[in-house]
Amino acid sequence: MSSGDSLIGIRGFLIDTPERGKLRAWSDGAIVIEDGLIAEIGDYGELSKKPRREPMRWLHSNRVAIFPGLIDLHTHLPQYPAIARSETELLPWLRRYIFPLEREFTGAKARKECAQFFAELARHGTTTAMIYTAIYEESCDAAFEAAQTSGMRAIIGKMMMDVGSYGDLAVEKILETSLTQSERLCKKWHGAENGRLDYAFSPRFALSCSREMMTATAELAKKHGAYIQTHLSENLAELAAVFEMCGWADDYVDVYEKCGLLTPHTVLGHSIHLSERERDAIARSGANVAHCPTANLFLNSGIMKLDRLLDAGIRVGLGTDVAAGPELNLWHVMRTAIESQKARSFYEKNVRVPSPADVLFLATQGAAHVLGKGAQLGSLDIGKEADLTLVDIGALLPYRKNTKVQNDLGAEDILTLCIHRGGPHATIETFVRGRSVYRAMQPELFG
Ligand code: GUN
Ligand code: ZN
Repeated sequence: MSSGDSLIGIRGFLIDTPERGKLRAWSDGAIVIEDGLIAEIGDYGELSKKPRREPMRWLHSNRVAIFPGLIDLHTHLPQYPAIARSETELLPWLRRYIFPLEREFTGAKARKECAQFFAELARHGTTTAMIYTAIYEESCDAAFEAAQTSGMRAIIGKMMMDVGSYGDLAVEKILETSLTQSERLCKKWHGAENGRLDYAFSPRFALSCSREMMTATAELAKKHGAYIQTHLSENLAELAAVFEMCGWADDYVDVYEKCGLLTPHTVLGHSIHLSERERDAIARSGANVAHCPTANLFLNSGIMKLDRLLDAGIRVGLGTDVAAGPELNLWHVMRTAIESQKARSFYEKNVRVPSPADVLFLATQGAAHVLGKGAQLGSLDIGKEADLTLVDIGALLPYRKNTKVQNDLGAEDILTLCIHRGGPHATIETFVRGRSVYRAMQPELFG
């Protein structure tokens, strides 16, 4: 199947979280897709018997679990080749592995990796990704072109740095060039493909950006109604350097606040080491957080106090943060979101450990709210865009397909299996706007 132009039905065990912590399921359910939207949803028995003006093509079976497409709110396309590279801490890791890799992200190499990256996202069940490219305009253009061709949903931005950058530009030209190129990319791509592609102004973090750059960037984002993405409070050495460099601000959040970077269209990666004042300031501004627990553990950065951010009223989603995170697998990120809070609860009182439904919400409907697209994406509701990931339940079970065991599983069992054992080996098919963007080679599952 290649596009959402004909009437198709997908049969499976439907699972979603329309609200935080609330699991909803149809054990032998079906979704009817028309023109890329979810047109009908309910029990397969009923929907398959309903008289129709044109024949319906039915795909899959109740051995397949169907979830809303997963949303990755923070990842770095040029960094994918450097995943799981000898863990250290943020600042030496950036200098040793990341800046040299991003520096080479140009030309044919960049274009090839961009195409592969979107195929990889789809194979992992991700349908929307918020992405940083390298500092080069062409690297960002290449990423948008690959996203456009792939059919995937993406919010992409050219990395902005005017302090300690890895490019060849003369220092006095960096600021103006970065602003001009970013605005040009935003005009070209923000809202493209009928809203499937959007632009995010992407100042790297306070240590890579002058106050002037951050302030001008915030103005550009406001002028164009575009997103902003940056990193915040990830690592203690980073924090100390920010205090040293930005004496004009009261704390890390205040750096971004004073520059106008905190808006409801802003996604702040990490945000681990925050004070109560900082959490309140983020909540007041309406800015959002991309929680990246796999990356936070990999780079020894710390454990975010997830419950405190949620209690402050901050909207939170999840990010793989490749290459600080060692996988593009959002199921793995969900698992680590649970396990890192469990670990915290062993040494801290009254920690609220998220449930499987809580973390699925963060990776789907919660992330859609972060993007201001909660009415179009994130759950299996009629009228929403048909962004779906389909999982082979058998592939998650010991000894693979055991139909009897499968028949005994409830929605929470299946979700827990996905969170703890899910990944590309179990993705059967991924849809964006009803178009198949990835299909595994297992023909017996498609009948
Ligand atoms: N802080 C600034 N740049 C980066 C980056 O590329 N990855 C991570 N994890 N943190 C950052
Ligand atoms: Zn990052």
